[in-house]
Amino acid sequence: MTILITGGAGFIGSHVVRLLVEKYPNYHVVNLDALTYAGNLENLKDIEDKPNYTFVKGDITNEVFINNLFKKFKFEGVIHLAAESHVDRSIKDPLAFVKTNVIGTMILLNAFKNLWENDFENKLFYHISTDEVYGTLGQIGLFTETTSYDPNSPYSASKASSDHFVRAYGETYGMPYVITNCSNNYGQNQFPEKLIPLFINNIINNKLLPVYGDGNYTRDWLYVKDHAVAIDLVFHKGKNKETYNIGGFNEWKNIDLIKLLCLQMDEKLSRKKGSSERLITYVKDRPGHDLRYAIDASKINKELGWKPSVTFEEGLNKTIDWYLSNEDWLANVTSGEYQSYYEKQYG
Ligand code: NAD
Ligand code: DAU
Repeated sequence: MTILITGGAGFIGSHVVRLLVEKYPNYHVVNLDALTYAGNLENLKDIEDKPNYTFVKGDITNEVFINNLFKKFKFEGVIHLAAESHVDRSIKDPLAFVKTNVIGTMILLNAFKNLWENDFENKLFYHISTDEVYGTLGQIGLFTETTSYDPNSPYSASKASSDHFVRAYGETYGMPYVITNCSNNYGQNQFPEKLIPLFINNIINNKLLPVYGDGNYTRDWLYVKDHAVAIDLVFHKGKNKETYNIGGFNEWKNIDLIKLLCLQMDEKLSRKKGSSERLITYVKDRPGHDLRYAIDASKINKELGWKPSVTFEEGLNKTIDWYLSNEDWLANVTSGEYQSYYEKQYG
């Protein structure tokens, strides 16, 4: 079977591409990625020569190009990860998020529908979404698959919108789909605009650690390779028209997580205990900042037998080790555009 993975050069996508290329030598995996600032072929250096892997550079918002690509490869399955993914960037440039996340998804949906409309059997459009579509939780409760959508940022509104279109194509055209809504991922190859890699990079370089607001915001963290395993499982065993929540059973207040990270970094860099923590600086809050995300992942656990395999301490350890031994990767992605982004975001 030939499958399309969009956004496969990004953080989560690269782990999904590697897993599927290695696990299913009889699949032809086509990775379509526009290589925006977040896409990086270095993430896939180790598998780029595999015979069952093809990389195509291209933009999901280019309708003619996408239609031709679907005609050429006749994708039986699509795993759609390509997106603008950073909340802070969505606050500065919301339209870019509508273009890629909403219109880009629509163009893929149309191409898939037009290709298979008369024979949807054994075909699947798998849309990767986020828990942020549910908005924010208070101090208690968990997001379940039936929690109402209530997005608060332009990023989450664009993801929510794309989820609705995927569902609508299922209802209106009978297009087989699954959607998963996952919590915060962390791990190797994450672009250092997101909390954990940003702070690792800043600690390495003795730069300040900008904590938004009072730091008492809560996220549910999942190791990226565990997410990739869940995606493989849902792609093969998920039920048509179902949604699955994926989470780490692992809630941390930002400030507690940051303190743990600081401790581990001091040890790994052989610095005096407390030196990284001294870099913590409280800065202006993110507008519309969601207080708390936490996932009830019991459905995917009960129905598909998935659970995270790595504890947070283990995952964080592996992540820090990876960044410390891949300083060239970090140096490459933090040159150029990153510097002007950083300046605009943090001053
Ligand atoms: P990322 O920003 O690291 O990667 C996105 C990838 O998409 C990049 O390789 C980029 O080049 C590509 N891309 C962007 N615009 C494109 C376009 N117009 N055409 C083709 N390719 C394009 O993102 P990520 O963190 O790996 O997230 C992947 C997906 O998972 C996203 O859909 C995101 O909403 C979702 N998600 C992310 C998290 C998380 O914690 N990172 C959690 C839940 C869900
Ligand atoms: O929940 C899933 C989502 O997780 C994904 O859909 C998004 O693609 C992904 O970016 C992530 O969104 P968050 O906004 O939760 O992640 P981020 O790493 O940007 O921020 C995590 C928390 O840390 C959040 O409460 C904001 C805070 N933060 C973040 C940055 C970048 C800071 O305090 N300072 C910072 O500099």
